[in-house]
Amino acid sequence: MVQLSQALTTVLLATSVVAHPGGNTNREILRRQAHLDHPNRRSVQSCKRNLVESGWVREQHQRREARLHELRVAAGFAKEHELVRRDPAEVEETYGVEAACTLDPESTEGPYWVVGELIRQDLLTGETGAITHLDVNIIDTSSCMPVTDAYVEMWGSNATGVYTGVMAKGNGDGSDTAVKTNALRGLQPTGANGTATFITVIPGHYVGRTNHLHTIIHHGAKLLPNNTIQGGTISHVGQFYIEQDFMGQVEKTSPYNTNKQAITTNAADALFNMAKQGDDDPIMKISLIGKTIEDGLYATIDVGVNPKAKQTPQPVNMWTSDGGIPVPDSPWAGYPDSCKYCGSKPPRKEKKDVLAEE
Ligand SMILES: *[C@@H]1O[C@H](CO)[C@@H](O)[C@H](O)[C@H]1NC(C)=O
Ligand SMILES: *[C@@H]1O[C@H](CO)[C@@H](O)[C@H](O)[C@H]1NC(C)=O
Ligand SMILES: *[C@@H]1O[C@H](CO)[C@@H](O)[C@H](O)[C@H]1NC(C)=O
Repeated sequence: MVQLSQALTTVLLATSVVAHPGGNTNREILRRQAHLDHPNRRSVQSCKRNLVESGWVREQHQRREARLHELRVAAGFAKEHELVRRDPAEVEETYGVEAACTLDPESTEGPYWVVGELIRQDLLTGETGAITHLDVNIIDTSSCMPVTDAYVEMWGSNATGVYTGVMAKGNGDGSDTAVKTNALRGLQPTGANGTATFITVIPGHYVGRTNHLHTIIHHGAKLLPNNTIQGGTISHVGQFYIEQDFMGQVEKTSPYNTNKQAITTNAADALFNMAKQGDDDPIMKISLIGKTIEDGLYATIDVGVNPKAKQTPQPVNMWTSDGGIPVPDSPWAGYPDSCKYCGSKPPRKEKKDVLAEE
């Protein structure tokens, strides 16, 4: 039997009185706790020695340095020969700290996952905002090796806090405009280094949630001729966050500064606080490409997964050539008013299921 930790109990008490727009918070707390308490849970940090000894930490650091430099040269902020490299030994030394950015703990898929999105690097499809080159490394924390054959799925709200592919009360004006586009959604395979790369925007905030990006890690999926995937398993469901002071700077830029929805800070967001437990750090490391946020950003994060783990997130819609269409019997259908996963009190049996699952 699992004991709720003190910190978690505090979160539980603090959130059980408010209806949470992320869905059923208590259900998430139980799921997260079961994961934290799992005997096989390992962090990226516990793989430090293997990853340093194999040379992977050094290689990945150098690759990321070179990538940022390449983006700077392309945007006219640096000359080809101006790359200044940091001592890799120093990077290896501190890897344990920086690699605390594992998303190994599970977090909710939320009410806006649209399944069947396209495999593509550039997710913009006309959206504007703080353009972000995102570099995600996936590490198998059971073998301490990079995961070279996974698909990383990403989705986020647009700069003014609206999700595409779905229609729901509270998502923008609640109309069907956004349901017809797949902007800011897509998947990328991890390559030889366990790296998936995307171009997206820093997500805008919306009522009840701090700014965040969603991710799902797929294994063993089949690539279809129309550039989507089918089947396979999901090892990880998580969210990436942005450091609060930096987010404040982004919120001052256009079009973020036209977003009228109430802001929730990281500190006030229950899901953010849960994601940080167990020495995990779900905050992306972000560098300016030029002098200002408008010049573009380079963001990196390491995600620890156990490829054998099987998570069962539930999509609300499916992307088709005609836009997002409802997935039959989705527990998120009817969100936020009347869905199986709505509300702040989980059905009694849910707790038993969660603990038995692990
Ligand atoms: C993997 O990283 C190495 C070392 O930085 C780099 O030379 C190589 O191009 C990368 N491979 C892929 C597939 O990204
Ligand atoms: C976000 O999406 C909504 C709905 O499609 C749209 O009205 C708004 O202009 C978008 N925001 C930005 C910054 O593009
Ligand atoms: C891709 O193909 C699958 C299988 O035929 C189909 O179900 C899906 O709707 C297609 N997706 C798109 C975006 O065309």
